[in-house]
Amino acid sequence: MPEASLSAEQIAVFRSDGYLVLPGFKGADELLAAVQRAHAIVEDFDPGQGASRFSTRDRSLVADARLIDSAEQVHCFFEEEALDDQGRLRVPKAQSINKIGHALHDRDAVFQRFSHGPELAAVAAGLGLQHPQVWQSQLIFKQPHIGGEVGWHQDATFFVTTPHTVTTFWFALEEATLDNGCLWVQPGGHRTPLREQYICDEGRLRMQPLNTTPWPDTTRAVPLPVSAGTLVVFHGLLPHCSAANRSARSRLAYTLHATDGTAAYSPLNWLQRGAGFPVRGFD
Ligand code: FE2
Repeated sequence: MPEASLSAEQIAVFRSDGYLVLPGFKGADELLAAVQRAHAIVEDFDPGQGASRFSTRDRSLVADARLIDSAEQVHCFFEEEALDDQGRLRVPKAQSINKIGHALHDRDAVFQRFSHGPELAAVAAGLGLQHPQVWQSQLIFKQPHIGGEVGWHQDATFFVTTPHTVTTFWFALEEATLDNGCLWVQPGGHRTPLREQYICDEGRLRMQPLNTTPWPDTTRAVPLPVSAGTLVVFHGLLPHCSAANRSARSRLAYTLHATDGTAAYSPLNWLQRGAGFPVRGFD
């Protein structure tokens, strides 16, 4: 395990608040390569190939085989407002994508490099992940004008382990502001229980309620406007959300979700890996 690069103070902040902001974690060259590659993937994508519309308001729209298949592949998913009633694109393809997932970090050479290395391994070690297992990568576009809101949730909903270990690595590939839909978090909210679990039950995806603890109101939430290159790491139980992007500027982010291999990964989690595609760490 690499030496932890985080200071004792940073680790204390993470434990107290449930999140930590690391400005300048990624340099300009890496950011440029990631942004260019993201746009190239979209350019190569054929919208006619049965892509799913990904609705952040109605999770039933993602309950299809394409999402499950994306666990081991790289698929594009549309913004909810990108298609008209007949399923035709209302905006140019390049502005229609909500996200790309979920195995970029293992399938795409640019994002493989972006998602591994001693710096990330050191952060994971500093946060207490003894044997990180990176299950998922996502490019989240938050397109100008039509980028949808993402309501309050906890990422552990999608990656249950016993005990809870999932940790989110959220990279700003572009500046995230109040206007284009930056993250909002509830400091200390990682000490609240898991509200719901997103499970795969015999090939069907559904949300299973677990706990009725209410989501925070705006008085207990803080926005996290950050510059491009910032890494925000947060605890899997931390409630967070982001507003719709009604501005003219995109808000491209990249996320990784890692659990600790010392904890039991729920067989009900929607994202599973086959024996031929094992999950690996940041090295
Ligand atoms: Fe999230």
